Amino acid sequence: MNDRHLDRFRYRIRLIVCLPISYSGQEGKRSKARDYRSPEVNPMAVYVVTGGAGFIGSHIVEELLRRKQTVKVIDNFSTGKRENLKPFIGKVETVEADIAESLALGEYLRGADYVIHQAAIPSVPKSILDPVKSHRANVDGTLQLLLACREAGVRRVVYASSSSLYGDSPALPKHEVMLPNPLSPYGAQKLFGEIYCQVFTKAYGLETVSLRYFNVFGPRQDATSQYSGVLALFIPAILKGHRPTVYGDGLQSRDFTYVQNVVEANLLACTTSGVAGDVFNIACGDCITVNSMLQQINKITGNDIAPIYTDPRRGDIKHSMADITKAREKLGYNPLVSFEEGLRRTIEWYRNNIS
Ligand SMILES: NC(=O)c1ccc[n+]([C@@H]2O[C@H](COP(=O)([O-])OP(=O)(O)OC[C@H]3O[C@@H](n4cnc5c(N)ncnc54)[C@H](O)[C@@H]3O)[C@@H](O)[C@H]2O)c1
Repeated sequence: MNDRHLDRFRYRIRLIVCLPISYSGQEGKRSKARDYRSPEVNPMAVYVVTGGAGFIGSHIVEELLRRKQTVKVIDNFSTGKRENLKPFIGKVETVEADIAESLALGEYLRGADYVIHQAAIPSVPKSILDPVKSHRANVDGTLQLLLACREAGVRRVVYASSSSLYGDSPALPKHEVMLPNPLSPYGAQKLFGEIYCQVFTKAYGLETVSLRYFNVFGPRQDATSQYSGVLALFIPAILKGHRPTVYGDGLQSRDFTYVQNVVEANLLACTTSGVAGDVFNIACGDCITVNSMLQQINKITGNDIAPIYTDPRRGDIKHSMADITKAREKLGYNPLVSFEEGLRRTIEWYRNNIS
């Protein structure tokens, strides 16, 4: 046994000591979609999820535990919530740290096979207000993490990129080969992150895969901030009988993607061979306008609430829709949950969880 194997062995023993019971995810009991998938990603692998206390990260953690993998979370809880990890207490090792400044990142990553990198300040408006702060988390943080992953001998890093780097070019759907044209510091930072990932694969042989998410929604998405995703703002507003605010005419469209599809893509990206250094769109391949999304929320919730229209926001793009052929062909990705089904599940969750 060499040092690396010995470290990994010790690490697992440490985790097993604090993992007394195996976890069976709550959604797994309810969701038929889960039945299509293989029960295990990779037997006994160690996954580190940065930003694991956040919206998407906590769903990744949940699914990994359901598949009986060993999971560790690194999060500074800037937007992530402790309550998102509450169901997993005792089953996940959680490190509170800032990836952009932690000198101990290498120590936290010791023994990790895969790093699923979600940590970021994921907001276009916040990046416009304070580009330096979001650059630090989104670019410096990614660079520090990649360096630490290289040092720790991590097998592969999967990076959460974003459709925002395509910008407002009128060509639809968006293909991975299109020239990026970000309209916001956030879009630029996500592009930098991707480039660093690719460079680390080329220059240092660290395997990386970048996934460009398109408008992710689902349970646990923060509904309390003015910077929240559009569905996380609209659903609670309509459930409370309030009129949501639409920036622009509502004819802008998005490829809304239910969070479980993104989770599946991440797990495929960890273990699929032949994709190191590659970039993939992760979406449903649909184009849904904000107005039609509002109509569907009204229909499902039994309401008829009209929005308040106001000026478009700076940095927001008009239309966004993905071509997901590459992810289908090379990762075997298939959106398992449709927009309508995802919307129903999300509305149900907000019904039970908003005060
Ligand atoms: N939600 C979307 O629609 C969407 C779309 C495209 C890309 N993404 C990307 O997906 C990832 C996850 O987004 P989300 O919607 O779950 O956001 P989120 O805010 O819920 O999660 C981000 C997590 O990262 C943590 N974090 C932030 N800065 C950190 C730092 N410096 N060190 C350690 N932890 C830090 C936060 O505390 C939080 O838990 C982000 O990288 C985001 O850019 C999201």
